[in-house]
Amino acid sequence: MTVDNNVAVSNGDPHVEELKREINRLKKEKGAVILAHYYQKGEIQDVADYIGDSLALAQIAEKIEEPVIVLCGVHFMGETAKILCPDKTVLVPDENAGCSLADSCDAEEFGKFVSAHPDHTVISYVNTSAAVKALTDVVVTSSNARDIVETFDKDAKIIFGPDRNLGGYINSITGREMLLWDGACHVHEQFSLEKIVELKKQYPEAKLLVHPECKRVIVMLADKVGSTAALLNYAKGSDAKQFIVATESGILHQMRKECPGKEFIAAPPVDSTCGCNDCNFMKLNTLEKLRDCLRDGKPEIHVDSDVARRARRPIERMLELSKK
Ligand code: 13P
Ligand code: SF4
Repeated sequence: MTVDNNVAVSNGDPHVEELKREINRLKKEKGAVILAHYYQKGEIQDVADYIGDSLALAQIAEKIEEPVIVLCGVHFMGETAKILCPDKTVLVPDENAGCSLADSCDAEEFGKFVSAHPDHTVISYVNTSAAVKALTDVVVTSSNARDIVETFDKDAKIIFGPDRNLGGYINSITGREMLLWDGACHVHEQFSLEKIVELKKQYPEAKLLVHPECKRVIVMLADKVGSTAALLNYAKGSDAKQFIVATESGILHQMRKECPGKEFIAAPPVDSTCGCNDCNFMKLNTLEKLRDCLRDGKPEIHVDSDVARRARRPIERMLELSKK
């Protein structure tokens, strides 16, 4: 999704407005384009040139002409952009912005799992390190996982990693029996079934929007299961006026911006006091760090050239299979 910076929502805070002006100035000076994921802080989404889900960010990165890409998201998103655009400088505002799901799949261990099943095709979720992608036949995101899995025969032997929830969901809707890696996201596993049921009683007309990284019991209650972009599009197109949203809370910013007059209620985690429907990794990025990384040209993403060469093939295969 392209963003018109001139109509970016202003929160009126002079410090924030000054930072945004500086970021826009530096962006032009350095020949940079800012890509942001929907889980970024609202002020980062507002200053980005493009906002999107994981698939859109990869598709956009591939087409960027400017020499510098600033990826406001987490590390694997920066790596994917670098793998697709090896000649460009790819910057991330905070190099510690990792991903618990990607971390739940160590490349060496995954390699042993793959070697133990040599007759299996390996499908990996994009939330993985470049080293895991290098062991993969085709990468998927939550936007295209179902369609890509369905390009294989129903009885094809498939390993799916690392998200057991997304893999289990795809198995359930496609009738497959893919072998699942036992990984998960610490944010999406936290949503409380009991609290969502309570919310549904409180807002009986509300539609429940659920990301497929959530546990099966939550997914089963959903009116819509999908990637961040798919949930946003559903909310935009729906006649409903209220939505309970079971994914990272950053997406609410764009939902509220694009759906005036509709109400979005963040689904609570098990412990409502912990704020853990916020991804602590995504939220490491701030406007200050975005300004600094544009100014200083770091932190920069580097991927070992051999790993990048092997990881590029399954990413390109995904992009090819996702063309409409
Ligand atoms: P999307 O591909 O739906 O944007 O999700 C990315 C992600 O990290 C979910 O936790
Ligand atoms: Fe990773 Fe979960 Fe954060 Fe998404 S929300 S980036 S899967 S830790």
